Parts: sequence; C-alpha cells; structure tokens
Amino acid sequence: MSTLDTIREQFPITRQCFVNESGNRQTITYLDHGASTHPPAPVLDSYREFLERYYANIHRGNHYLSQKASELYDCVSEVVLNYIGGGSGADNSVIFTSNTTTALDIASYLMQDVAGATLVSSMEHHSNDLPHRRRGAVKRIEVLRDGTLDYEDLERKLVAGGIKLVAITGASNVTGYMPDIRLIARLAHANGARILVDGAQLLAHHAVDLLPNDDDSHIDFFAAAGHKAYAPFGTAFLVAPNQVLERTEPYIPGGGTVKFVTDTDVVWAEGVERHTGGTPNIPGVIALGSALNWLSEIGLDWVRRHEVELLTSVESRLRGIEGVTFLGDIPAEKKLGVLPFNITGIHHEQVAAILNERYGIATRNGCFCAHPYLTRLLHCTDAEAVRRKVEAGEDVLLPGAVRATIGIYNNAEDLDKLVAAVADLAAEALKGTMFPASDKPSACIEAM
Ligand code: ALA
Repeated sequence: MSTLDTIREQFPITRQCFVNESGNRQTITYLDHGASTHPPAPVLDSYREFLERYYANIHRGNHYLSQKASELYDCVSEVVLNYIGGGSGADNSVIFTSNTTTALDIASYLMQDVAGATLVSSMEHHSNDLPHRRRGAVKRIEVLRDGTLDYEDLERKLVAGGIKLVAITGASNVTGYMPDIRLIARLAHANGARILVDGAQLLAHHAVDLLPNDDDSHIDFFAAAGHKAYAPFGTAFLVAPNQVLERTEPYIPGGGTVKFVTDTDVVWAEGVERHTGGTPNIPGVIALGSALNWLSEIGLDWVRRHEVELLTSVESRLRGIEGVTFLGDIPAEKKLGVLPFNITGIHHEQVAAILNERYGIATRNGCFCAHPYLTRLLHCTDAEAVRRKVEAGEDVLLPGAVRATIGIYNNAEDLDKLVAAVADLAAEALKGTMFPASDKPSACIEAM
C-alpha cells in the first residue's frame, strides 16, 4: 500500500455514503478540509480511550483518575510547543481554548493595554479582525489584485509608527495564500510591534517554526484549532510569551484562575492558569495532542509535497475550463491547497448544492467569514453600498465563491471528480440548458 492509501484507510469517514434528494446513494468526495478535517482512527482511539478509561476533571483532584487525566492533558502543551517550534515552555505558554476565534480574542485582550494601533491585513478571517476593532484603533494592510499582500503598504504603515501588533493570517482560508510571516515578524519587531499569526489553516498543512523569542523573526502569538488539524471539534490554542500573561487580569475570571479569594479581594493565579477559566475540553486537548503526533509521524514535508502535487494539477485544469473564474493568482509554492472559484451564470450557492447532490462532492461556498478580502478579490467596488442595503434589511445577493480545499487523505481521483463535475456545470451554464442566463457574474453583488 502507498503512504497515501495507508493514510486514507485510517479515516472511517471515507467509507461513509449518503442518500441524495433523488434517492440515490452517493459516495462522498470531501473537499471541505479548510472548514474542518476528520479525525483518523488513532485520534479517535485516544479520544475514546480517555472517555472510557480516564474520564475525570484535571488539576484539582487527588484521586487516580484525576491525576491520570491531568498527566495526559498537561503533556499536550509540550506536544504543541514542539510541533510549532515554540521552545521548552520557559519562554512561551499554551492556553487551550474552544476555537481559534477565542484564541485570537485572547491575544487581542492581552495586548489591549499596550499603547498603539493593531495593523490588520485585508485578507484576514473576521476572527483576526473584529476582536482588534473592539479593543482600539485598527489600521489595514492592503492586498494586491492577485490576492497577495501589499508588503510596501505594510512597511509604510509600520515605519510611520504607532503600531503595537500586526495581526496576520499564516494562510488565507479563501485563497490559501501564505504571507511571508518571517519577513512580517522582522518588520514588526524592527518597528516596535509584536506579531500575531492566525495559524488555523496552516497548522496541518505546512511546517511552522515560531523561532526562539530573541530571534528578530520570532512569532509572538500563534493561534490555531484542532478541528482543522485532524482532531475533533472544540479545542484550539494560543501560544503566547510568558511575560505578557500577567499583564492583565484573567480573560474569563472564575474557577481555576485564582490563588485565593476573600469577600472583597482576589489573588490571581499566574501564567496559563490565570487565563483558563473553567473546565477545559480535556478529551479534545488530548485528541489534539494525538493528532499533532500523528501528523509529525507522517511528516509535514510529506503532507506539503502531496498537497502541492494535487494542487498544481487541479488548479491549472480548473482555470482551463471555459466559464470558470478563479479567485487570486498565487503560485503553488506560496499557497495551500485551497481552490476558490465561480462558474459564470450560476450562483455559488447553486454550484455547491449541485456538486453535493449530483456528484457527492463536499465544498463550501459564500464569503468564508472574510468579507473585506472577498470584495477585493471579486473587484467589487462599493462594499459600503452593500453594507447599507444589508443594514436596511434589503434582500441582497452577497458576493461569494465556491471553495474546494484539499486534505491529507485526498487523492488524484477526488480532484479528477471535481474537475469533471465543474466542467459539466460550466458547459451546461454556457449552453443555458439548465440555468437561466445571467447578465451579472454569479459572484457579484446586486448593488455593484
Ligand atoms: N473558518 C472556516 C472556513 O474557512 C470555517 O471554512
């Protein structure tokens, strides 16, 4: 068996079928790994083993199960730090959260009392944009027409001063574009700012190295989630420098965040405990550790090679289909296996629904929680007019695209199916045999 076949074999979900609306049994071709990845058998086993054999709360119990649960939970911090080059724990800590959104919000919170603005790129997922807006001034880094980052704009804004934090994705969930985070870290540090990387998409697809804290290319804050890295839902993390953890009161004060409480006063706990209010998702964290160990055993080099091989072939074939427009123009070495496209004359919602119903292909469609990036990629010029219509409650067709995302167990056959299905739909749309001809590109917004 090839390495890929062995990996695919480990995913029970690949043997799952569904009955479509016409009553036909469909096998599933899953190309929505950018949203969530499935857990393979070893990760499911560790999750189940905890629930069956060690289920207990951590840190505050002196009985066997609690101690065993604490031991299994605590060692995952080291797994995370090893996986992303975050050091031994002397410099950085891992705060476990329920999702990347919360992890990014904690980073924003930890920086809120520092003077200065946050510089946010215009390709961010809303989760790495909106939290910063509610905690002070935000400035934006522009993106270029090809969907990449405008580094000149970034440098100009950093050099102008007054920036405390650069909030940037490690890889866009819309185009897969991977900005040069080392370069951005260097520029940020040279201008007195820290860097926060949203690693949600990156974690399971590309090797990450935060570098030592005294390196000028070091990543200060790194957030990511298990459900995009072959672990179950409900677990994510923020890696942050130890020296910033005590700067604020707990993110959520409550159980576990204190040393002592009187009727009128509190002595807060230190370090990670200070920001871990309440019982965490213990089995989720343990499964996240298993998933990262499982990925490390396969090797991120293999993962990346496999993904680039599939991506290069499928992207050029999709781009060659008449009637298909692709979002962004980014070389394979600078992007993950993310394929955002539209078919002229068919709304993205309809494309995704037909791909599912007729071909059993799971994609995602819409704006991918990155409206500012989408409007730029679709060259929509008046987002403000759309905002006004949305606010007024008018029925607006929002911009969007269909997105297929490659995961570790996808093979060439999966991508062949996608290309053939998209070619069918594009041909039908061109002939007007199935869909009403539209005088507007399917991706655009009514108001534009
Ligand atoms: N952020 C996830 C996505 O891009 C849900 O699909």
